Amino acid sequence: MERGLPERPQSWQLCPRCGRELSSSSFATQCPDCGGLLELRHGPPRENGKALQVLFLARRGRPDALDASGVWRYRELVLPEASAEDVVTHPEGNTPLLVREAVSRWTGVEALLLKHEGHNPTGSFKDRGMTVGITQARRIGARAVACASTGNTSASLAAYASSAGLPALVFVPAGQVALGKLAQTLAYGAKTLLVRGDFDTCFALVREAAEKLNVYLLNSINPFRIEGQKTIVLETLEQLLFDPPDWIALPAGNLGNTSAFGKALKEASELGLIPRLPRLACIQAAGANPFARAFREGFARPHRVKAETVATAIRIGDPASLERAIAAIRLTRGVVTDVTDEEILEAKAVVDASGVGCEPASAASVAGVRKLAAEGVIRPTDRVVAVLTGHILKDPGLLLRYHQEAEPAPARANRPIEIEPVLSAVEALLTRWKS
Ligand code: F0G
Repeated sequence: MERGLPERPQSWQLCPRCGRELSSSSFATQCPDCGGLLELRHGPPRENGKALQVLFLARRGRPDALDASGVWRYRELVLPEASAEDVVTHPEGNTPLLVREAVSRWTGVEALLLKHEGHNPTGSFKDRGMTVGITQARRIGARAVACASTGNTSASLAAYASSAGLPALVFVPAGQVALGKLAQTLAYGAKTLLVRGDFDTCFALVREAAEKLNVYLLNSINPFRIEGQKTIVLETLEQLLFDPPDWIALPAGNLGNTSAFGKALKEASELGLIPRLPRLACIQAAGANPFARAFREGFARPHRVKAETVATAIRIGDPASLERAIAAIRLTRGVVTDVTDEEILEAKAVVDASGVGCEPASAASVAGVRKLAAEGVIRPTDRVVAVLTGHILKDPGLLLRYHQEAEPAPARANRPIEIEPVLSAVEALLTRWKS
C-alpha cells in the first residue's frame, strides 16, 4: 500500500511522526501505522502575503454565512474543500481584543490585550474547532459524534451536533464539571454520561468507544478541530493588522489549543502573513502541570500527574497532544510555566472586577503573564496577548463560593449584604460606605 496519496487533493491528513498520508475523508484521528496524531495539510492558497491579508480583511462585515464566521472567513487555511452547503456555522469567532488598564497594571505589562474567546456562541473557544469538526462529521456521513470533556467541549459539541441534527454522546468526570457547562450540555441535548473517574479516564473510555462503536471522535486530537482553533491566532493577528505581538499567553490542558496556535503561527509565517513569530507562553495550574514539568527538563521525557485544581477546565494529568505542543513551543521559542490556585483566583478576581470576566482556567493566562513579567521573562514593554478561553458564567459555583462563602473572606471578595426592607438600612449602609 502506498504511504503517500496517489494525487495531491486540496486537503489531506498527514502523520508528522512517520509520514503516512490519509485522505481528508478518513474517519481516523490517529495514524493507522504508528498511532501518531494526524494533522491536516492543504494545498497553498492562490494568494499569499499582502494579497491574502487583503482577502481576509475584505470579508469582514460581509453578510453571507461563511464570511460572517470568524472561522470560515479564513477558509483557505481551515478547510478549503468545504462548500457553503457543507458548513455548520452559528456563526462563531469575531471575538474582541480588549484593553483593561486594571488588568495591565496588575500584571505589570502595560501593552496587554485580552482576546476574549468567551464571546463565542457557547461561551468558549471550543466553538471555533467544533464548527469545523461537526462540518467534517456531516461531510463524511458520521452516524454519531462523541467527546470526553471537562465541560466546554461537551457544551460546544452538544450545540453544534444539535444544529447539524447529529446524535452526540459526551463523557464527563462526575462531580467535576462547572455548573454552567453541565447545564448547557444537557440543555443542548447531548446524551451525557457522568463517568466515575477523572478527565483522563473519560478520555481513555471515549477513545475506545469511538474505535469500537463507530462514532466519530471530536476531542481536540481530531485534526479538523485544530484547523478551526487556529483562527484564534489568525483573527488576533488580523485585529493587530498583522503586526504580531511579542507574546501570546494561553492556558494549557490537553494541549490541543497549544498545538493549534503553533500550527497557525507556522503557516502564517510561511505564507508571509506575518514578518516574525510571537512567542507562546503556555500556562498550567500547579496541580495539573505535566507540560510545565516536562518543559523544565527540556522535554527530556513526558510527565503524567494526578490532576487537582480549582480550574476544572484544565484539570488534566496526561495531555493527549503533548508531541505537537512541544513542537509549537520549540518553533516559537516559547515557555511553559504554572501558577497556583491562589494566583488563578486572584487573577480571575482582577479580570472579573475590570468588568470583563472569565472562567477560572482563562485567568491562568493572566496569572501566568504576571508571573513571567515578575521573573523578567516577559519585559514590561512587551506587547502581550492573553487569551481568555471561557466566559465568566461558566462557573457560577466557584464565584459564589469565592465572594459569598469562603472563610476567611479572600482579599478581593465582594460580600453581599442582607438587609431589612427599610430605607434606613440602605441609608446606614451608604453612610458607612462613604466613610
Ligand atoms: N481553557 C478552557 C476554558 C478550556 O475549557 C480548556 C480545555 C483549556 C483552556 C485548555 O485547552 O485542552 O486545548 O489545552 N477544555 C477541554 C474541554 C479539555 O473538555 O472542554 P487544551
